[in-house]
Amino acid sequence: MHHFEYKNKELYCESVPVRDIAAEVGTPFYLYSTATLTRHFKAFDEAFAMPHVTCFATKACSNIAILNLFAGLGGGADIVSGGELFRALKAGVDPRKIVYSGVGKSVEELRFGLESGILMFNIESVQELHALQKVAEDMGVSAPVSFRVNPDVDPKTHAYISTGLAKNKFGIPIQDALDVYVTAQKMQYIEVIGVSCHIGSQLTQISPFVESLQKVKIFIGRLAKAGIHISHLDLGGGLGIRYDSEDPPLPAAYAEAIKDEMEGLDCTLILEPGRVIVGNAGILVTKVLYTKQGGKKFVIVDAGMNDLARPSLYGAYHGIQPVVETEEGNEIADVVGPICETGDFLARGQEVPITQSGDLLAVMSSGAYGFSMASNYNSRPRVPEVLVDGDQFYVIRKRETYEDLIAGETIPSS
Ligand code: LLP
Repeated sequence: MHHFEYKNKELYCESVPVRDIAAEVGTPFYLYSTATLTRHFKAFDEAFAMPHVTCFATKACSNIAILNLFAGLGGGADIVSGGELFRALKAGVDPRKIVYSGVGKSVEELRFGLESGILMFNIESVQELHALQKVAEDMGVSAPVSFRVNPDVDPKTHAYISTGLAKNKFGIPIQDALDVYVTAQKMQYIEVIGVSCHIGSQLTQISPFVESLQKVKIFIGRLAKAGIHISHLDLGGGLGIRYDSEDPPLPAAYAEAIKDEMEGLDCTLILEPGRVIVGNAGILVTKVLYTKQGGKKFVIVDAGMNDLARPSLYGAYHGIQPVVETEEGNEIADVVGPICETGDFLARGQEVPITQSGDLLAVMSSGAYGFSMASNYNSRPRVPEVLVDGDQFYVIRKRETYEDLIAGETIPSS
């Protein structure tokens, strides 16, 4: 459930007409609803009636206002870069609730994590373990570590966002992981505290989660036999949302399935949800520039693949809705942006409202991996992010300017 609803044929975000925001900030822009973000965070977090930390996956939506909102609700952060760590700290996330994932952390990033006192590093290779040990030794501190194991489970999602198969670059093959734990246990500056596992994103079934947890449980049993006891189990993120007609499990059903499997494990659960919390809490608002009939009907809007990459990158579906409903009805069209590539589309052969130049459209379910994946391609300034709370709205990131585009660039003087 989200708070983007029509009242008198007009799309509102909570109590604010989307059209009013467009009039003030211009288009395109991302728009998030505080009530929806809060509701989704709580629905997820409160579903787990066991010791746990909900570490929001920063990459899904990394604006500091949103990270701050979740921190205020008791959330932590899952980060994958020094930049995300910087954001999380600026947003007021408790470092003791930050977990650091990712296959390629640099020495500088490892140091930043240690200096910040984060909860744990999810280590993905033996070489990374040695790099961390060295940094920790230089600093004279102990590094809290969990290893991300790869359980070789098919998450049944898009190949680009499937991460738990043996052929994926992520984690340490579960059958090889015991040796790595034994090695780590002997290292003076490494403190082994956990096991982690993240098999993919936009999962619409519970069974892959359960299958991987069962494999991880067996592995934790092997660790115990080797005298290695862990206190944290990180199950990653991945729970899907409805973009179109998907029917993903609700957080409560997911939590219930995990609870059953957690029986007997004396661990604090770490969860790294991203999309399920923010995906349907945000939209992208864009304006129709032109329409034309070529080989098919094209609706040319002022947002492009640089603003929302998901349709081009994954062939992802996003519903397109009018900001003001009319009597015109719908048509099948491609909604395309101004970027000079045929791959630049927000919708292809999709049922969309019949529009005219100047009309506003809402690209639904854009809260996750929307702005956070935006780029400046074609030298397009990135769009603003706006947060509604009740009858108020706040620009939480202003529109970039042309000057912003070249800030940091210099012409060598000869
Ligand atoms: N934890 C780890 C280690 C991850 O790699 C990810 C996502 C998450 C948690 C959060 O997953 P979520 O709950 O959001 O599914 N750009 C793609 C999604 C990439 C997901 C990458 N990792 C998209 O737009 O569909």
